[in-house]
Order: sequence, then structure tokens, then C-alpha cells
Amino acid sequence: MTAILAFISFCNINCTSSLRKNSYTIGFSQCTGLDLWRRTMLDEMKTELSLHPGVDFVYADAHGNSETQIAQVSAMLDKLDLLIISPNEAEPLTGVVEEAYRRGIPVIVIDRKTKSSLYTAYIGADNYEIGKLAAKYLGTISKGQINLIEVLGLPGSSPASERDRGFTDGIKKFPNIQIKARLQGNWVKQDAEKKLIKLRPELKNINAVFAHNDDMALGSEAVFKELYPGKKITIIGVDACPGEGGGMQMVYDRSIAASLVYPTLGKEAILTAFQILNNEPFSKVNILQSLVIDTSNVRLMKMQTNKINSQQNDIIKQQGLLAEQQLIYKSQQTVLNIIVTTLVLAIISGGLAFYFLVENRKINRHLALKNEEIIRKGEQLVEMSAKVEAATEARLNFFTNVTHEFRTPLTLMISPLQDMLKNEKAVEVIGNSLKMVNKNAYRLLRLVNQLIDYRKLEIDKTTIQASENNIIAFCREIIDSFRLHAKKSKIQLYLVPSEKDIQVWFDVHLLDKVFFNLISNAIKFIPDAGIVKLYLRRDHGQVYIDVQDNGVGMTQEEAALVFDQFYQADNHPRVGSGIGLALTKEIVGRHHGNITVTTKKWEGTTFTITLPLGDAHLKESEKTYFKNEWPDMDEQSNSCLMDNEMFSFTETPAFTQTPNEFSILIIEDNQDLLNYLNQKFSEHFDVYTANNGNDALIQAYEKVPDLILTDVVLPGLSGKTITEQLKTDLRTSHIPVIMLTAQSSNDQKISGLESLADIYVSKPFQFDYLLAAVNNLIRNRKILKEHFTSDLPIPVKSGISRSIDKKFVNDFSGIVEKNISNENFSVDDICRSIGISRIQLYRKVKALLGYTVNDYLLDRRLKKAVYLLNNENLPVSEIAYMVGFSSANYFSTSFKAKYGCPPTEFKNLNKVV
Ligand code: FRU
Repeated sequence: MTAILAFISFCNINCTSSLRKNSYTIGFSQCTGLDLWRRTMLDEMKTELSLHPGVDFVYADAHGNSETQIAQVSAMLDKLDLLIISPNEAEPLTGVVEEAYRRGIPVIVIDRKTKSSLYTAYIGADNYEIGKLAAKYLGTISKGQINLIEVLGLPGSSPASERDRGFTDGIKKFPNIQIKARLQGNWVKQDAEKKLIKLRPELKNINAVFAHNDDMALGSEAVFKELYPGKKITIIGVDACPGEGGGMQMVYDRSIAASLVYPTLGKEAILTAFQILNNEPFSKVNILQSLVIDTSNVRLMKMQTNKINSQQNDIIKQQGLLAEQQLIYKSQQTVLNIIVTTLVLAIISGGLAFYFLVENRKINRHLALKNEEIIRKGEQLVEMSAKVEAATEARLNFFTNVTHEFRTPLTLMISPLQDMLKNEKAVEVIGNSLKMVNKNAYRLLRLVNQLIDYRKLEIDKTTIQASENNIIAFCREIIDSFRLHAKKSKIQLYLVPSEKDIQVWFDVHLLDKVFFNLISNAIKFIPDAGIVKLYLRRDHGQVYIDVQDNGVGMTQEEAALVFDQFYQADNHPRVGSGIGLALTKEIVGRHHGNITVTTKKWEGTTFTITLPLGDAHLKESEKTYFKNEWPDMDEQSNSCLMDNEMFSFTETPAFTQTPNEFSILIIEDNQDLLNYLNQKFSEHFDVYTANNGNDALIQAYEKVPDLILTDVVLPGLSGKTITEQLKTDLRTSHIPVIMLTAQSSNDQKISGLESLADIYVSKPFQFDYLLAAVNNLIRNRKILKEHFTSDLPIPVKSGISRSIDKKFVNDFSGIVEKNISNENFSVDDICRSIGISRIQLYRKVKALLGYTVNDYLLDRRLKKAVYLLNNENLPVSEIAYMVGFSSANYFSTSFKAKYGCPPTEFKNLNKVV
């Protein structure tokens, strides 16, 4: 940890130093940079700057052009912290210097001046004094007449004017000195030479020259040397620059007589710049001293300057070494950084590696345990699935065997049945029952056969044995085998092929089942006089077969489930008819074909089969080259439709002939079951029948039966909806309802009872049990009736909550009580008050109270008369009037008929009934 912290702090230090930004940008605008004096100035600056690392130094040389210098300064201003400028000319450069100053950039004006005082510091020598010093030196060394030419610097540059002014003032003390001419040398040797040569005739008498700098002095010397070789001319220059080609060397070489030191100012400029930037005290005006260098002191001065130069060189060398050392230090530091970083990373990685090693071991141990557990569980699963597979296999085998076993007893049942049906006597006695048993035995046989076929294909994976056949001829035979049955039901069968012969590879013992199933279904589910059409056509390498009917059709929900094996729909017989369509789909699939259904409720259904043409899609194992005999089509169509055979119960007794006390309404869509129940219940009750929900409701309201027996799943309204509607309607609420259904789970029973059914009986049922249930409900109804007709308050005795019926009885008896004295009060008045028909009122009152409405009215009138006779001292004729009798005689007769004595006698006896 300590190592990491040390590493982090180490990094911080190094990062900080390496990221440090250059602190200042100093710009230096030089008026001209070619001459030695100015090169020396620049070297001095650089030397001084090398002691201040981290400074950006921006240098621009205007090559003696004021406009260039203005542009250069303007361009650099934005990035500068400080500007050093030596203006080419005072006037033109004043503006840009003032601008820099106003923008807050410190400005050091060096050597030459501007016209303004808006700058931060000035560094230069006293050029006036230099002029004066030159005059004094000349006056001192020569006592004779001096005819002099003054070679001036660039007009407009401050040293030129100041030196001229100083010189002019200086010679005033020396009358022997006369300025014979003034030339503008512009600080440049060549310019001075040119100007001098132009003055050629006047030069003859000239014996001295004061040039404003050494360069121009050297040019003058050259001109005179050439024009007047050997003539003694005293030439004085300015600058006294040390080094090769400098003024000091000129004096030493006696090319010129003397030179006035004009300090190069570079070091001072940089020192002042840092004072300003570091907010240290500084002098605004810094004037450096000058002195005269001539033969008397030039040797000494040279030595000194050489010494200084060598020291300077030493410093530069030292600096080079220092820089080298710094580089070495830096690279060593980098190496050290890398080593420390690597070390720290190695320690961290080592730690991590160790940590992960430990963790890895833990995980591995954990994984090993998990692995063992998974392997163990996997083994258990394999074991279990093997057991399940074995159990499933055993169950399926059992199922298949049992299914096979069913065929023998079924055949043994069907054959004797066929014999019995041929026996006229037997048919006379139990013909209907025999026919029903026969039909259902066939249905069972068909289901068993389908199950066995399905098992063969689905479970045993039997491969098809396809041979090439004309599918049109094949379908024609199948259609023809149905014609007899179709004729009976007045159904029209059509085969509509697009051509005579379409050769298709198919298994004749499998594909026939597809068509038998689809056509027999179509026949079963269309009304009489319906149409079934079989279209065949060839298209895009496939044969298309449409089996189309105009029967009841299906909803889209039912159609979606139509091919699901064993799916039982709530209210559609086609979908719930077993596995026929699942088997069909499987067979078509085995032929590499497809089957789809399009249907519309109440409009019809079309099954479309597509089979590939040719035999490229078939494996060799799926083909047979033996010509298979086609199956017996008639036998198959017989067995397909035998379970659909309709027969009527000729002996159904007509209840109208011998009316029974009670009536029942049976609602069932299976015609056979409806016939059977009708026949059985007709022995005990008047029976009404309905085979759909809507008809059932109409009959219930019309007939008001004493009991309703209904199936749950019905076309149209379901049994539950019918029950709910009847039980919540005043006219029918009293009728007990028994629900009869194949749905036998507890949830389904509860849902049936929730719809207010009285009893729920599951199929298959024993008729005796159903009859007992019917009798029981009718008896209960009788008991309830007694409650209603008793004078006791109803809720006390009635354990059954039938609020609608109680309300009816209350309303009915209330209306009667209110109108008991009204002799014109009639049944129609009651019907109007309650809002039901005469027959419904009659049935309801009879069912709930056991009276006809008129009998009830009479009973209530007489009971009230008994009360009045017992409790009121009124004449009998008055009482007769009060209880609604218009004639006292009729009252007396009615009273006597009920109570055995006339009312007068009854009153006298004060008899209590
Ligand atoms: C160099 C120079 C010097 C002179 C100075 C005046 O360019 O001409 O010789 O002393 O400039 O500004």
C-alpha cells in the first residue's frame, strides 16, 4: 500500500513538471537584423533568455521597412505577454506601439524611439551625448582646421537626429571644426559610399568624417582610400561593436580613428522584460553610458570584450552541458518512472493473480460440486425419462391393444344386431332401440379404426407406400360410393376435374381415408338438399383438390383448431368429432402435401389439399411399384355414414291424446338422444322438444312447462344462457331446470349451477336416475306451492329463496285483495297489472299456487267472507257485496259448496273455519 501511495505521489510530481506550460510569450520586433550590431543584440537576448526556460520568444525582422514592421507587430500582438520593439522610424511606428500599450501589453522600446511616451520602458544610450562626445573627441585631438562631412543615419530614426543635434552643439566649442556637408547614409555602408562619391569634387579639402555608425564610417574610409590614397582622413564612427567586422576591430586595424560605444542593449532588454512580467520594480527610462574607443584604449577594450566573450561562450557551453544533463536526467527519470510503474503494476498484478488464484480454486471447487450435482441430476433425468418413456410406451401399447380389442366385441355386437334388424318381430317390438344401438356401435367402430390408423402413422411412424394412380378416377370412385346416401338426404355430389387424368403418387390405402373423412363430414354437416363439390386441378407442379360444402360453416376460432388432435370444442360438432381431421392432416403431410381450410359461419366450408406431382419428393422407401388394389369404397362410405343414419321413433306417444299432469321441455341438439328422451319421458309427462337454444326459449315462454331438461352445448344460445334468461324472467322463473351435459368436471358443474340451474346431471346417465331427479324437482315444486297457498307468511316456512316467485305471489295476492269487493274484477285486470299474458298467468298461478286464477279469486272471496261473518255484525247480503258477489244467492251457493252450509247458518253457529 505504501508503495502504491509513493508511486502515486511520484507520478503527480512528474506529471506536474512535465505538464507545466510556457509561462510567457515575448515578442521582439527588430527594424533590421542583418548588421553586426543588431545580431549582437539578438545573441545577447537569447543568451539571457536561456536562463529563463519556458519562455516563448517570437522574433520578427522588418528589413528596414516601416510598413513591414507595423504589419508584423499587429500580427503578433494577440499572442504576446510583452513586446520589445526597435522602431525603424519614429513617426510611422508610433501608432502600433500605442495600440499594444493600450491593450495592456507591456512594451519595451529599445534603441530607437517613437514619437509618443506611451510605452512601458525605454532602453538605449544617450545619442545626443554620443554626438557631443564625437565633437569633443575631434576637437581635442586636432588643433588645425577640420573640414568635416557628417554621414547621418536614416532620417526619421531618433538616433540619427539626436546624434546630429549633439554633434552640432558639440562643435560649437571648437571653431576649427567646420561641417562641410551632411549626407544621409541611412545607417547602411553602401548608401554612405554612394552619397560620398556623388560629392567627389568637394571631398578634396575634407580631412574628417563623423559617420553615425561604424558601417557608414567604414564605407567613408573605403571611398577616401580609393579617391585619395595615402591622404590622412580622421574618421569617427559609432557603435564600437566587438568581434570580427565590428567597430572595435576597425579602430584596432586603424581603418577608422575612433568609435563611440553604443551598447547593444539585448541583455538589458530581457532583464527589464522579466522585471515587468514578474511585477518587480523597474526603471521606465534606462540610458546606458557611452565612451570613446580609439588607439589608446582599443587593445584593452578588445581584451576585455574577448574575455567577456569567452566567458559568454563558457556560459553557453555550460548551458549546453546543463541541457544535456537535463536530457539525461529526464530520460533517467522516464526510465525510473517506467521501472516504478512496472514494479507497482507487477505488485498489483501479483496480488490480483494471487487473489484470483484463490478465488479460482474456490469457484473450481464450487463448479466441481455443481458439476457432480448436474451429472447426478442428469442421470436421474435420463433414468426418469426412460421410465416415463417406458410407461408411456406401455400405456400406448395398452391403449393400442385395448383399441384393437374393441373391434372384436364391436364386430360381435354389430353382426347379431344386423341379424336382429332383419327380424321383423324384433323390429316391431324394439326396432328403435336396435337401430340406435346399431348406429352407435358403428360410430364406435369408426372412432376405433381412426385411432388405430392414427397410432400407426403418428406413433409407429409407418411410411406411406405410394404408387402412381389417376387421382381423378380414384376420387370419382369415392364420390360414387356416397351417392346412395346422398340421394336419401337429397344432397347433390359433384366431381369437377379440370382434365381427365392427373397421375399422382399416393398411398391408395391412406389417401382414401382423407376423402372419406372430408366428404362424410361435409354430408353430415349440411342441411338436406345441400351441395358437396370436389374440384381437382393441376397448377405449378402440384395437384389441388378442394372439398367444398355449403353447410353450416365454422367461426375462424373453430377453424383454427379444426386439425388439433382430440380437441373438443364447446359447441361445434365438426371440431369435436374426434381425430378424423387430425388423421387427415397427418396423412396429407406424409404425402409431402398440405391441407388448409377456409370457412364462413352459416355459408360453408372448403378444405384444400395440395399434393406434389411426380415422385422426386418421395424416398425410395415411400414408393411401391406393385399395383395396389384400390380399397372397397362402398364398404368404407357405408361405415362412414352409418353413424349418421337418421331414423325416427315411430311410436313416440302423442301426449295430446292422454294428457299428463305435468309437462317438460327437452332441449338437446343430438337428434338421437332427443328422440330417446322424448320417447322415455312421454310415458310420464307431456313432452315438448327443441334442438337449439332459440327455439327452446320460444317454447319455454309459450308453453311454460313444469320442468326444463337442457343440454349445455347447443347451437345458438347455450344451455347456460337459456337457464339464466328463464330464471330471471317473471314468466318462467318458477320452472326447475336440469342441465344435462358431457362436461363433467367440478368447475363445469359449478359454472352450470351458477347459471341458476337446479340440478346438473353428467352424461352418460342412467335414465332411471334422470327420471328420479325430474320427479324429485316436480315434487319439491308442489311443496313450494303449498307454502305459497298457505295463509302463513311465506318466508317463515319457505326454505327456498325464490325472490322472483315470492314477489309474483305477493303482487298477485295484493292485487286480488285490493279488488276483492269489485264484482267486475277479472283475470284480464290482473294480466294488465302484472304485465303477462292470460296463458302465462294461468300457468304461473297453477304452478305456484295449484289453483286456476278464478278458483283462487273465489277462494279468497269466500275466506274473507268467513272472516267478516265471524268478526263483523253485518247482514249476509252486505258481506256478499263486500267480497265481490253481485248476487246474494250466488254467494250463498258458492259458500255452501265450499263450507257445507249457507252463510246465514254459518253466522248463527259462529262457526270458525
Ligand atoms: C544598426 C544601427 C547602429 C546604430 C543604430 C542606430 O542598425 O545602424 O549602427 O548605432 O542602428 O539606431
